[in-house]
Amino acid sequence: MKITSAKFVKGITGDDDLLHDGTPHIAFVGRSNVGKSSVINALLNAKELARTGKKPGKTLELNVFAVNAKYYFIDLPGYGYAKGGHDQREAIRDMIIGYLSQNESKPMTVALVLDAKAGVTDFDRDMLHILGDNEHHVVIVLNKKDKLSQKELSDTLYQIQREFPGITIVPYSATTQRKGADVLLSKLFA
Ligand code: GTP
Ligand code: MG
Repeated sequence: MKITSAKFVKGITGDDDLLHDGTPHIAFVGRSNVGKSSVINALLNAKELARTGKKPGKTLELNVFAVNAKYYFIDLPGYGYAKGGHDQREAIRDMIIGYLSQNESKPMTVALVLDAKAGVTDFDRDMLHILGDNEHHVVIVLNKKDKLSQKELSDTLYQIQREFPGITIVPYSATTQRKGADVLLSKLFA
């Protein structure tokens, strides 16, 4: 999958006609600050197309990007961020669950992004259940692999694969791996 064009289309806070226009989606979900927006930028070879931040809670809407004028990448807000306040947390949860449980325009793939150093948290286990219940095609992106040694990375991979047999896990680093994007893209479009 070669990226020939990428542009921001719209930020939405709930359902939107755009999501149901027949364009296939690839959705990026995960805990806040794991690097969802950074992964999107790296894959699309765009610096700050999706806004990123040092502090969690950067993405607060569903941001839709048109890729090759043929697909949508959906950058979802992160879950599990405690400081956002109750109302904001609930609103974000509703947006994520609302999107993932709608059946009309199911994403072709959901990329569940993890921070390799943190591994799978209980928030991610909850999310994997929701994804399983809705029969989504899931690829785990083990992002920030640059933070781990080779040994730590293979141990982490082994543990996650053992807990979730059958799920594709792709180690990745949004900061160092512009080139490794091809492998990840091929899994997301598989
Ligand atoms: P929310 O929008 O708040 O849910 O966060 P997000 O998951 O979109 O994370 P974002 O892309 O904003 O990145 C969060 C922080 O992690 C930023 O400071 C990034 O520079 C950093 N980051 C992202 N990917 C990597 C990576 O592969 N390696 C390292 N070391 N840092 C990364
Ligand atoms: Mg983000």
